[in-house]
Amino acid sequence: MNKILVTGGAGFIGSAFVRLQLREHPELHIVTYDKLTYSGNLDNLRDADPARHTFVRGDINDPDTLGPALEGCDAVVNFAAESHVDRSLNGAADFIATNVAGVNTVLDQARRAGVGRVLLVSTDEVYGSIEEGAFRETDAPHPRNPYAASKAAGELFGTAYGETYGLHVVTTRGSNTYGPYQYPEKVLPLFVTNALDGLPLPLYGDGMNVRDWLHVDDHCRGIDTALRHGAPGEVYNIPGGNERRNIELTRRILELTGRDETLIRPVADRVGHDRRYAIDGAKLRALGWAPRMDWDEGIALTVQWYKDNEGWWRKIKSGEFREYYRRQYGL
Ligand SMILES: NC(=O)c1ccc[n+]([C@@H]2O[C@H](COP(=O)([O-])OP(=O)(O)OC[C@H]3O[C@@H](n4cnc5c(N)ncnc54)[C@H](O)[C@@H]3O)[C@@H](O)[C@H]2O)c1
Repeated sequence: MNKILVTGGAGFIGSAFVRLQLREHPELHIVTYDKLTYSGNLDNLRDADPARHTFVRGDINDPDTLGPALEGCDAVVNFAAESHVDRSLNGAADFIATNVAGVNTVLDQARRAGVGRVLLVSTDEVYGSIEEGAFRETDAPHPRNPYAASKAAGELFGTAYGETYGLHVVTTRGSNTYGPYQYPEKVLPLFVTNALDGLPLPLYGDGMNVRDWLHVDDHCRGIDTALRHGAPGEVYNIPGGNERRNIELTRRILELTGRDETLIRPVADRVGHDRRYAIDGAKLRALGWAPRMDWDEGIALTVQWYKDNEGWWRKIKSGEFREYYRRQYGL
């Protein structure tokens, strides 16, 4: 591969993927294609070498911009999405526009431009909640919130383009991802940055919901493995192997920021809050992938990054974010 287009590459995971590709594949040129919604941020790509990286501002729903950007690309990796469950509970129209219709446009334009591979970045949330054990790729999706439903619908378009047009489409379902440059509406950077400022940590419900935490670089390596070695039409889970209750995560963040539990502020639970997500990663491991980041090291490095990069998150938290936060938590 010589040239890859990365949609949503100015977001959290997409920008980590761009950095990883530039670092590990010196022959590659990357085109980042991003609408720059509230969570897209060119500061996330500040280190990308301009000789090997091009940025195109555009909506994945706009074929007139996307089509030309795809010319000459060997692959497209779609990260572009409305990505926050809580926002989808207040209205899902944007989620359907980007995560369903937008994915259809990516597939259609990739087909027309003769792009050899499409990778759709999806989520473990499409499976829904599981009490015990872990979902495998053969289990039927059972999305339980509008965000997850929109991602599952987007995946089905990928399957359809594979069947109908023979397009090489691979889908990944990653678990809850953490690391640097994550927009601070998501629980981990929200709690870290609030704790650094001595502000309350709004913890949903009883704090007993379980999430499996995956470091962003491990997530991106998993996507890279599926892109290069995955079979067309297949789905690959990318688990973190670090299941933690939200209350445990909260306590760890308090320890690492030198705060105590008086900062914990229980708030009404998210409606339909899935209790536990868990996925089995054997299929991707068989292609040679394994997570490298240990949880204790990963969380410590991540908290340190937010300590060292105050300028990055303060700029975000002083903008649109404030109105969202007040509406969401009443704090
Ligand atoms: N964050 C997680 O824990 C997680 C876990 C599994 C899967 N995923 C998936 O990974 C992908 C990236 O998630 P993230 O956490 O980096 O999200 P993010 O919100 O940080 O980034 C999304 C990016 O997509 C861009 N975008 C949104 N709509 C667009 C459109 N119509 N056209 C072009 N660009 C658009 C935004 O500007 C932003 O840069 C998403 O597809 C998400 O569903 C996320």
